[in-house]
Amino acid sequence: MHLKQFALAPRPFQMLIILLLISPNSSKDSPCQSLNVSLTQKIDNEGFHRELKWLLERGPTSLQCKLAIRLDVGPEMYLNPDQIADLNRLGHLSVLIVGDVDVEAPAHLSKGHITYIYVPPFAERVSLNVPFHLRYQRAQISGGYGKVIVNKPSVLALSPQSEIKAPCDISNGVLCSWRNVSYQALFDEVELLVPVGDLDDYPLVSIVTLLLGCAGCIYTLSVLSTTPL
Ligand SMILES: *[C@@H]1O[C@H](CO)[C@@H](O)[C@H](O)[C@H]1NC(C)=O
Ligand SMILES: *[C@@H]1O[C@H](CO)[C@@H](O)[C@H](O)[C@H]1NC(C)=O
Repeated sequence: MHLKQFALAPRPFQMLIILLLISPNSSKDSPCQSLNVSLTQKIDNEGFHRELKWLLERGPTSLQCKLAIRLDVGPEMYLNPDQIADLNRLGHLSVLIVGDVDVEAPAHLSKGHITYIYVPPFAERVSLNVPFHLRYQRAQISGGYGKVIVNKPSVLALSPQSEIKAPCDISNGVLCSWRNVSYQALFDEVELLVPVGDLDDYPLVSIVTLLLGCAGCIYTLSVLSTTPL
C-alpha cells in the first residue's frame, strides 16, 4: 500500500492495521508453544577433562521448533574454543562460545563465558555431549579439593517476540528472540571436585628453588673465576 493511500484511509482502518501489526499474533502460530521438555544431565570422566552428557526429550510437539541450550560457564571451568571449533566443523555439535576464553588461566584469574548449544532437529530425544575442562585453582592452606559448580542450563525455544535476545546460530551474527522454557530437570545440581595445591608445601619448594639457584650461581662464578681470560 502506498503511504499516501494509508494517510487518506479512515481512522478506524488505520487503527486496525496498527493493531494487526502489534498484536502477538505470530506467537500463536509459533511451533514452540506448549513444549513439554525434560533434560537429563550426567558428567563423565575424572580429573580436569570432563564431558557433559545431556539427553533432551520432548513430548509430541512440532518438529519445527528450534531449541538451544544456554550454559553459563563459571570461572572454574571452560570450553576449549579449538576443540569446539573442531566439533562444529565435523558436524558433531553446534556450539557458540560468547566471550574470550583463556584456556591457560587459573580459576581465580578467569571470567566465565556463555555458551549456546544449538539443538539439531529431533523427534523425541536427542543426546548432546559437550566436552569441558576444569581450571587449576589457587592453592589453599590445607590443599585438598576445590569445588566447581556446574550451572543449571537453560533451555531456549526460538519464539517471536520473546524476552531473551540471543544469537540465532553459531555464526553469532543476527540476534533472535528466544523463550526461556521451563523444563523437567531429571538431575541434581552438580558439584565437581578439583585437586588443589597445598600452600604448606610452598615455603619448602621456594627454599629448595632458591638454594638450587644459589648453587648454580656459585658454580658459574667459580668456573668463570678459574677460567683464564
Ligand atoms: C510431559 O511429559 C511427561 C513424560 O514424557 C509426562 O509424564 C507429563 O504428563 C507431560 N506433561 C504434560 C503437561 O504434558
Ligand atoms: C530461565 O529461567 C530459569 C528459571 O526461572 C532461570 O534460572 C534462568 O536464569 C533463565 N535463563 C535465562 C537465559 O534467562
